[in-house]
Amino acid sequence: MGCSRLPLLVFCIFCLCFFLYTAQARWHHHHTKHKHTHSQKPSGISQPPYSSPEYAHLSEPPSTPPEFSYLPEPPTLPPESANLTPTPSPEPASSPDDGSDYNSGVFDVRKFGAVGDGITDDTDAFKMAWETACQVDSAVILVPYGFTFMIQSTIFTGPCQCGLQFQVDGTLSPPDGPDSWPQKNSKRQWLVFYRVNEMSLVGGGVIDGRGEKWWDLPCKPHKGINGTTLPGPCDSPIAIRFFMSSNLTVQGLRIKNSPQFNFRFDNCKTVHIKSIHITAPALSPNTDGIHIENTNDVEIYDSVISNGDDCISIGSGCYDVDIRNVTCGPSHGISIGSLGNHNSRACVSNITVRDSVIRVSDNGVRIKTWQGGSGAVSGITFSNIHMDNVRNPIIIDQFYCSTKDCANKTSAVFVSDILYENIKGTYNIRSPPMHFGCSDSVPCTNLTFSDVELLPAQGDIVQDPFCWNAYGELQTLTIPPVSCLMEGAPRSMLDNEMDYC
Ligand SMILES: *[C@@H]1O[C@H](CO)[C@@H](O)[C@H](O)[C@H]1NC(C)=O
Ligand SMILES: *[C@@H]1O[C@H](CO)[C@@H](O)[C@H](O)[C@H]1NC(C)=O
Ligand SMILES: *[C@@H]1O[C@H](CO)[C@@H](O)[C@H](O)[C@H]1NC(C)=O
Ligand SMILES: *[C@@H]1O[C@H](CO)[C@@H](O)[C@H](O)[C@H]1NC(C)=O
Ligand SMILES: *[C@@H]1O[C@H](CO)[C@@H](O)[C@H](O)[C@H]1NC(C)=O
Ligand SMILES: *[C@@H]1O[C@H](CO)[C@@H](O)[C@H](O)[C@H]1NC(C)=O
Repeated sequence: MGCSRLPLLVFCIFCLCFFLYTAQARWHHHHTKHKHTHSQKPSGISQPPYSSPEYAHLSEPPSTPPEFSYLPEPPTLPPESANLTPTPSPEPASSPDDGSDYNSGVFDVRKFGAVGDGITDDTDAFKMAWETACQVDSAVILVPYGFTFMIQSTIFTGPCQCGLQFQVDGTLSPPDGPDSWPQKNSKRQWLVFYRVNEMSLVGGGVIDGRGEKWWDLPCKPHKGINGTTLPGPCDSPIAIRFFMSSNLTVQGLRIKNSPQFNFRFDNCKTVHIKSIHITAPALSPNTDGIHIENTNDVEIYDSVISNGDDCISIGSGCYDVDIRNVTCGPSHGISIGSLGNHNSRACVSNITVRDSVIRVSDNGVRIKTWQGGSGAVSGITFSNIHMDNVRNPIIIDQFYCSTKDCANKTSAVFVSDILYENIKGTYNIRSPPMHFGCSDSVPCTNLTFSDVELLPAQGDIVQDPFCWNAYGELQTLTIPPVSCLMEGAPRSMLDNEMDYC
């Protein structure tokens, strides 16, 4: 998959056509000396590229007159649609000086009939804007400031031309809760970007997931009558999902109150997330900030996340992930896992989390795996992280279990080569500041500690670190001291039974 450079493509088609035409013409010239009855031929392919069927479609004004009646203030809008008609130039999309909106490629969703009063269903207008902009190189879909657009669960599908920008300056919101969610729509996702390459989702606007009614469903933890949790289907939509896409940028946006995960990236490659702000209440269930799985080459920078579940969660199949300058909390911290559920194989490697702050959270930096999995987590660095009143600031849990009873198994996801350096701050004394619970059969190996200093946030009861089957070394003394770590490598590793990815 991929995006293509339209002007280049058009130019190439033009060159090819020109070549064919002149070749044909020469042939004609040569032969018509004797065959005067042969009529002039290839009119179809010799036309300039802007009138080829494909291009003609792109040149059509995307909106029709009735849609203008929806516009709140038609006279104040620039005459963009007039500029969408093709200019008689052989290179219509490549002149940056022209300044017309077609050439600058800005597609305001209002031009497609979006109302933006927060009540009217603007889904079709957004779909139309997407379909149109998708086919134009470096197009911008503009969600203007000062309007709230209500859109239903939608899949924005690529591939598109290169450099598509979805610019949200206003507010996007879904229908308000499960009762307003159309039966036919997926209850697992709201905004989905599928098979897009080189796209950015940017702007100073807000994506408001209106999650309250979803969090209060009686199937959610302790939300049933008298604090019970009732059985039954409990699907709630992820606010923003990128699926099978690459070279993505998400920047500047504010995302709040997602019904479930705020972001999920699965099967993506090359993701840049920068300067985003995610908020949801501390008690909102499953509102993970950013979840990635089967995704590699990821940067998450300069962002602030407070929510009711993991701040960032890294699932199976992720590698080359760099997280820098992220502030989490209240939240459940930054998690690798859970991995190895249902005896699955999981591989996660080369993950760095640095220069970050985790405050008032259930966990700080966590690796969690289920009993019975296979594969490995390795090459993980947690560096320069400040903890502020965190339960379990540093934790590896190879006995992760979301229900009560999970049997111990002989296989597990192998955890090795984990570096903890310069991790300082305070912990909530309800849990030990460091916890390494590793499998009986598959120990954790090569855990390295340097400049780790964790003090109780309140009181002076210093909790001892907990270790079970954990191997590693202290490069400097830690506070509190970790005396439970075993040195060297375990027997099982020397016997070469470990599962590497
Ligand atoms: C990724 O996108 C940027 C622009 O956003 C572009 O300059 C770059 O060439 C793209 N890289 C790949 C590998 O497609
Ligand atoms: C909820 O609790 C109240 C007070 O404890 C009790 O009277 C009521 O029967 C309970 N309701 C249900 C459905 O259990
Ligand atoms: C870290 O992120 C915050 C919040 O986005 C930002 O204000 C700050 O400038 C960033 N710091 C650095 C050193 O980039
Ligand atoms: C680890 O990931 C970073 C990007 O986060 C990349 O630059 C680096 O080359 C990777 N290291 C290895 C050994 O693959
Ligand atoms: C699993 O193994 C651990 C460590 O040996 C032990 O503490 C725990 O009780 C076991 N759990 C079960 C359910 O057997
Ligand atoms: C231990 O892990 C560190 C990274 O934390 C790595 O650089 C080193 O090579 C590993 N040592 C062994 C013996 O694998």
